[in-house]
Amino acid sequence: MSKKSFLNLKQLFKKKGFKFRDFEVSSIGDYLPDDADWNYKDVHHLNIVHKTVHGVQAVMTDDVMCNINLQKIPILGFEIPMPLIQYDHSKHNAIYLSVLGPYIVLINSIFEKFNETQTNVITKFSIGSKGIFRVLNPIIEHLLKKNNKMLMNDDLPMRNRRGELRKINHLFYKNTERYSFEFSENIERANVFLNEEEKNIINIEKKIILEAKDGDIVGNINGVLSFFVTVDNEGVKSVWPTTCSHEGAKLSNKCLKTNFLLCPWHNRKVNSLLSIKDGNIKIKPTIHYAVKVMNDKIGFKYRNDPKYYENKPFEYLKYDD
Ligand code: FES
Ligand SMILES: [Fe+2]
Repeated sequence: MSKKSFLNLKQLFKKKGFKFRDFEVSSIGDYLPDDADWNYKDVHHLNIVHKTVHGVQAVMTDDVMCNINLQKIPILGFEIPMPLIQYDHSKHNAIYLSVLGPYIVLINSIFEKFNETQTNVITKFSIGSKGIFRVLNPIIEHLLKKNNKMLMNDDLPMRNRRGELRKINHLFYKNTERYSFEFSENIERANVFLNEEEKNIINIEKKIILEAKDGDIVGNINGVLSFFVTVDNEGVKSVWPTTCSHEGAKLSNKCLKTNFLLCPWHNRKVNSLLSIKDGNIKIKPTIHYAVKVMNDKIGFKYRNDPKYYENKPFEYLKYDD
C-alpha cells in the first residue's frame, strides 16, 4: 500500500496551484504516545464522547479510515458534512485529509515521548486554497483551532485517565505493534491488565462491604481492584468496578442506569459484581471478575489475561481457577 507523507501531499497540491497557510498546536500530557495513538484510532468514542461531530463510517481497515463527518461549526453553530480520510503514515504519525468547500485541510499529528511518563502531541495544520479564497484563510484557521480545542477537551481526560492507571501498574493490551481501528471495535474485550508483579486478587473484609454506604469505595483506591457501592431505594446494595476493563474508563454512580452501568467511553454495559439485601449476599457471575464469599472476607479476582479475549465465546471467570 502506498502512503503519502504530509509534505508529499502538500507538494502534490502545490503543483496544482494551491497555496498553503500553516500553523501548529502542541500539548504535553501525562500519558504515553501509545495512549494518544489509541485515542486517535478509537472508532467508537467519536460518536459517544464528542458532541460536536458525528462520524458516518464508509471504510475501515487496520490503519485507514474514511468517514463523512457531520461537523458542527464552532461559533456559527450549524452542521456541515466533511469527508475525512485518516491513516497512519508511520508509527505515531497520523495524517488526516479533508475538504471544506474550496479549501483542502491537511493535518498531521505526531506523538513524541517527552520523558518517561509524558508525551508531546504536535499537530500541524495546512489549509490549501487558490486565488480569492485565500482571503478567508485566517477564518478557516480560527475555526480549525477552535474545533481542535473542543475535541481535545473531550480527548485529553481519556488519555490522562490511562496515564493515571499506568502510574498504579496497569497496562493496556493491543494485538499489533500499533493500535488499529479494527481492534478498537471489540468493546467486550478486557484490554486493561495488571503488570505481573501485581496480584489480581483482593480480599476485602466482609464487614467493610456490609457496612459500606452509597458512594463508598472499597478495595483499592483506584484501578481494576477498586470497587464502589450503591444502595437503591429498596435498600439493595450493589458493588461495581470503578474501572472499565475494556480500556480503563472511570466508572462511578454517574454511569448508573436502572440495573447496569453505561461506560462513558464506548457504552459498554457493566453489571454489578454482587448485590446484598438484608445481609444476603448474591454473587453475579461475570466474564472479567470472579467473586468469592468467605467467612469474614469477600474476594474479588480479576481475569488479568487480555489474550483470553481472542477466543470467543467468553465464559464466566471462576475464583478458584
Ligand atoms: S472503556 Fe471502552 S467500554 Fe468502557
Ligand atoms: Fe476523540
